[in-house]
Amino acid sequence: MKNRSDVVLSAVLSATLVLAACETAYNPLEDYEQLNPATDMPVPTPVDNTNFTAEQVARGQYLVALLGCGSCHTNGALVGTPNMEQLLAGSDTGIAWSNPLVDRNPGIVYPANLTPDIETGMGSWSTPEIIAMIQTGVSKHSGQTLPVMPWPSYANIHAEDATAIAAYLKSLPPVRHQVPANVQRGQRSTAPFIHFGVYQSKE
Ligand code: HEC
Repeated sequence: MKNRSDVVLSAVLSATLVLAACETAYNPLEDYEQLNPATDMPVPTPVDNTNFTAEQVARGQYLVALLGCGSCHTNGALVGTPNMEQLLAGSDTGIAWSNPLVDRNPGIVYPANLTPDIETGMGSWSTPEIIAMIQTGVSKHSGQTLPVMPWPSYANIHAEDATAIAAYLKSLPPVRHQVPANVQRGQRSTAPFIHFGVYQSKE
């Protein structure tokens, strides 16, 4: 049972919300500027790595290109201006995982630096850790990741293929590039982001 003061309080709150809605109708597009869409991404050339065979590395390079990892994990790719010096070294443009048309400040994740830089990339990751991330989305850095990183699509990848991807990523020249920290829903982001939305014509 609500007591009287609760009822009064909720009435006041609702009135305030209605007033706020009338005065400043939220137009999400006012907060955003249109940027260009993604492009097809090349992948960088591997360097010699003695732990894996050349065939494994070459297959990994082929799979990374085929699966489009660089279209998220390369800086600028998500906004149509990929930085070729930083292929697969992480994106300063994030991807919103909640709807920016509903949330003024949506949650945002930033595609990680996949090069073997020890501080800003995956230099300290073992091959099984990389394979686990690809198949189950569990990150050594951030625990269970959201399926914005499309690991559910990679879950059934053959072990040899996942190993080949790890071999290739480990063979890349390390690039020092710190991506912005993920943004929780409700927090303001300082870096740009894109949103994969589902829309339907009204008419
Ligand atoms: C649609 C965009 C997208 C694609 C395509 C994509 N990723 Fe990701 N990936 C992300 C995002 C976003 C994150 C960060 C997730 C988080 O922090 O919650 C991430 C995180 C990762 C991580 C964890 C790294 C870390 O430091 O935590 C690895 C490893 C990874 N991705 C590998 C890959 C590989 C390999 C491919 C291709 C087979 C790929 N990703 C394709 C968006 C993508």
